[in-house]
Amino acid sequence: MSSVALIGVQWGDEGKGKIIDVLTEQSDIVVRFQGGANAGHTVEIGDEKYVLHLLPSGILREGKTCMIGNGVVMDPFQLVSEITELEERNISVRDRLQLSNRAHVVMPYHKIADGLRESSNKNVKIGTTKRGIGPTYADKANRVGIRAGDFLKLERLEARFRKQAERYNEQFEAQNAEALDIDATWTELKQAAEFLAPMIEDTIVSVNAEMKSGKNILLEGAQGFWLDIDYGTYPFVTSSNTSVGGVCTGAGIAPSKVSDVWGVVKAYTTRVGEGPFPTELHGQEGEDLRAAGNEFGATTGRPRRCGWFDAIACRYAVMVSGVSKLAVTKLDVLDELDEIKVCIAYEIDGERTTEFPADIDDLDKIVPVYQSFAGWKSSTCDCRSWEDLPAKAQEYLTFLSEQIEAPLGIISTGPNRAETFFV
Ligand code: IMP
Repeated sequence: MSSVALIGVQWGDEGKGKIIDVLTEQSDIVVRFQGGANAGHTVEIGDEKYVLHLLPSGILREGKTCMIGNGVVMDPFQLVSEITELEERNISVRDRLQLSNRAHVVMPYHKIADGLRESSNKNVKIGTTKRGIGPTYADKANRVGIRAGDFLKLERLEARFRKQAERYNEQFEAQNAEALDIDATWTELKQAAEFLAPMIEDTIVSVNAEMKSGKNILLEGAQGFWLDIDYGTYPFVTSSNTSVGGVCTGAGIAPSKVSDVWGVVKAYTTRVGEGPFPTELHGQEGEDLRAAGNEFGATTGRPRRCGWFDAIACRYAVMVSGVSKLAVTKLDVLDELDEIKVCIAYEIDGERTTEFPADIDDLDKIVPVYQSFAGWKSSTCDCRSWEDLPAKAQEYLTFLSEQIEAPLGIISTGPNRAETFFV
């Protein structure tokens, strides 16, 4: 029996969907433990491409059970449409999916509130995905949220929904924004609730029972460490714990039961939305990396900001999350570069440091100190083992692993399932 957690070590979009798909082969159950439809996990299998936002990527492997844990914020309309789309593509979902009765529900009013907050000049613009994530977690903390378990009691659900929707509409009116059509939304919500109700379970009890019976569990993280509400570049973060702590609170699994932590990193760095990004490349270099890596958001289509690998940020994330194995993705994107850089220290006001600062003003002042590597200038796409890699690529990967203090476990050199190997 093993319970393996997988998290992003950078700012999200590390290619977790693909690594989860690969690791799912060795797992019986896959559990998503935080975030919501702000995630966009892309998996390519042969000629088919799937982009999942709420469903665990493990759903693409036949016969595997998937769970949406209590720490996830679940948009019922998005979930129904993802399930329907996969079933139309002949992938069975409803017989293999369990949805936590404690997962909080993202309502249409949360999405409106998210958009209004972003467009208001009274607030710092975060660059959110506008999927209602922040307002839903805020309602959870304010103890006024609606949970998936409420879908099993429609009368009570309707009363709670109407009360909250009216409260939000008052707020929208005060902001001169369009109000939510409560009656029409209720009709749609009721349909979604009826569709999802058969899948609602106490997933905490089921996942622990599965562990007890010797099943292998894969805990699927979304976003990345530096978007964590506690550790990330606050306030430019998401509203959940994307670090490994989220596994315990968001899936109901005790820390002593987590046997391994996979950390996923890209061979370089990207970030979507606002906020500090010490190794960001501006101008042509950044644009070239974006084009080579096809760095456009899977959820919002926004161009991603691109930059060099930041060993300082990754080492901190590895330390906090106890990463025991590293999966490095998109190595092939660097194949044609003459020179590749890795950030090995920061200078702030002329002082050198190898720790990631907490203060937003310090973060804005960082001047990265780089170590430079000669590029390998050959394709890694057909590499299927460590020995197949060019020596300079081996040297680069070994340096990353030593710098961030985590052993290499998987290398990915292309979007397809086959373009992956274990080290
Ligand atoms: P929110 O999670 O939509 O509230 O957005 C907060 C911040 O997290 C924004 O900068 C988003 O761009 C970022 N973010 C949220 N989800 C993802 C993701 O899956 N990948 C990368 N960035 C994300």
